[in-house]
Amino acid sequence: MQQKIVIVGAGGQLGRELARSAPEGVACLPLQRGELDIGDRQAVDGRLRQLAPAQVINAAAYTAVDRAESEPGLAWRINAEGAGYLAQACAEIGARLLHVSTDFVFDGEASHPYRPDAPTAPLGEYGRSKLAGEEAVLQALPGALVMRTAWVYSAFGGNFVKTMLRLMGEREELAVVDDQVGTPTWARGLAQALWAAAGRPQLGGIYHWTDAGVCSWYDFAVAISEEAQTTGLLQRPVTVRPIPASDYPTPARRPAYSVLDKRASWRDLGEAGSHWRHQLRAMLADLKELQNE
Ligand SMILES: NC(=O)c1ccc[n+]([C@@H]2O[C@H](COP(=O)([O-])OP(=O)(O)OC[C@H]3O[C@@H](n4cnc5c(N)ncnc54)[C@H](OP(=O)(O)O)[C@@H]3O)[C@@H](O)[C@H]2O)c1
Repeated sequence: MQQKIVIVGAGGQLGRELARSAPEGVACLPLQRGELDIGDRQAVDGRLRQLAPAQVINAAAYTAVDRAESEPGLAWRINAEGAGYLAQACAEIGARLLHVSTDFVFDGEASHPYRPDAPTAPLGEYGRSKLAGEEAVLQALPGALVMRTAWVYSAFGGNFVKTMLRLMGEREELAVVDDQVGTPTWARGLAQALWAAAGRPQLGGIYHWTDAGVCSWYDFAVAISEEAQTTGLLQRPVTVRPIPASDYPTPARRPAYSVLDKRASWRDLGEAGSHWRHQLRAMLADLKELQNE
């Protein structure tokens, strides 16, 4: 018999990739925001009781990092309270919860990859609300699995890669921050890691997943320009100029270093992540194919 797994936030970058890559043996029930608002406790309770899934994957979040500084109430309602409602409802119906969190729970002061048990110290409202969500999930459902990730992009929705492609098509030169370092993560690879976790019900607690390797936003932009020309998504080269983050002020402070230590995930999920540049190439091919459909 197929195992019922509900995906909430199914319309986002990760949600779409999860729905596209559900493994055999899973009856995947993707719920977009219009079908389930995780900030509505009664709706969460009612829907999960009605569907009675074996597992729930939470890909829903308030992800507007800068806007969260001016509307923290909304960020907290979704990222902290909503995550808690899901965990409480899962506890009541005996379902497992896979919850997704962020590198922004860290302050970026480290100089080596953050282990899942490293001390947290978020710099902004988004990171604080996501950390509160992790805590609410693990308190209501201690067996839940929290997967932190970073720098997510995909062919769907808005993200750094698609913004760069648009700007690179419009401009001769772009300035991109080179003193913030992390790891880009194709949502497809993250979805596959979550499906691997869904197949290992004994796993719980905090895990980290990004693609492999390290780069700055500047390095990432240079790679996007080169790979997009090879794929045929960009017709001409563009100059990418490195600048410090201090030259590109944003409402929310971001960690300068947010590389995550993924060794426990690679061990427990039985697969290592692919290098971020390899994944970028695959995502651009996917984007091109979707554009041609
Ligand atoms: N994007 C990144 O760079 C990044 C980095 C680190 C961690 N993460 C984490 O990774 C996970 C997936 O992120 P993503 O990039 O896929 O985000 P995304 O593309 O912004 O998708 C989030 C989805 O959640 C939905 N949503 C928002 N509020 C909701 C609510 N109250 N009830 C139900 N659904 C709601 C959104 O719907 P609408 O579109 O209708 O608002 C959207 O479809 C999140 O937990 C995020 O915090 C992301």
